[in-house]
Amino acid sequence: MNIKLNNGVMMPQFGLGTFLVPDGQSAYETVKYALKMGYRHIDTAQMYQNEESVGDALHDSGIPRNEVFITTKQRVHSTVANMQKAFDESLAKLKTDYVDLFLIHWPNHDKKINQQTWAFFESLYEKKLVRAIGVSNFQKHHLNDLLETAKIKPMVNQVELHPGLTQVPLKAYLDDLNIAIESYGPFMKGGVFDGIWHDGLKPIADKYQASIPQIIIAWGLARGIIMIPKSVTPSRIEENFKGQFIQLTPEEVEIINGLNRGKRVYTDPDNSPWGPYKE
Ligand SMILES: NC(=O)c1ccc[n+]([C@@H]2O[C@H](COP(=O)([O-])OP(=O)(O)OC[C@H]3O[C@@H](n4cnc5c(N)ncnc54)[C@H](OP(=O)(O)O)[C@@H]3O)[C@@H](O)[C@H]2O)c1
Repeated sequence: MNIKLNNGVMMPQFGLGTFLVPDGQSAYETVKYALKMGYRHIDTAQMYQNEESVGDALHDSGIPRNEVFITTKQRVHSTVANMQKAFDESLAKLKTDYVDLFLIHWPNHDKKINQQTWAFFESLYEKKLVRAIGVSNFQKHHLNDLLETAKIKPMVNQVELHPGLTQVPLKAYLDDLNIAIESYGPFMKGGVFDGIWHDGLKPIADKYQASIPQIIIAWGLARGIIMIPKSVTPSRIEENFKGQFIQLTPEEVEIINGLNRGKRVYTDPDNSPWGPYKE
């Protein structure tokens, strides 16, 4: 299942996350297994330090480059030269001459820095070195600031999103702008197996003879969200893959939306350590 980005690029709505998958054998075997069993979208980042093994697995899989969608992300840098150097390193490690989706990993607290970074991203897009560009961890106000100077609208915003943080208002804002929303941390660092989340999700999982992770994947996809669960465990890589084929009813989607508690289990972008605050 593909999602059409606002520049017409088709992006697989389901993929594999690779945060905390160590470079070397672990990332190599994980990505190779996922590609073999049908994944066609891999999410990595310079900060994950595993682009080298992702690239090796992609290369050795024998799957044509244009059949796999690769996302990577870059933190903000102070100079264009450093931005370019980091991007070139990503291409070399991934063993490719383009990236499908390139994201600003975290907003800086200084909007000018985000705007300068975005201008660099736009230049990569214009040179066709990236098929789509976007942001990650951007709140509405970060995007509003970015759009003050952007020539090209971001195509994607990747944010923490799961049953405890359903991001309904941010999604509505992004829908209006035709910016796709992508979920990270879908399993709430294990929180979905406990408390109200377990109790809300389990009856739906039982109905479909599915697991809670599979129901979360189906819920996100039904909402039009891009889902990239991470696993290094072959049986879970397969289980998650199968989750994309479950069709929930609109009522079940609403029941899961009702589990929202505004609960973050990752860093709050407004209080992150990335960049000094301006008072
Ligand atoms: N943009 C950002 O700032 C940002 C931040 C965080 C994450 N991300 C991206 O989003 C991806 C997903 O988020 P995440 O890795 O933080 O968390 P996640 O996908 O919510 O959860 C991964 C954890 O859940 C376990 N798991 C996976 N499938 C399971 C299943 N079917 N049953 C039980 N447990 C299962 C994994 O264990 P095993 O691996 O041991 O199987 C791992 O411990 C990342 O990998 C990364 O690509 C982006």
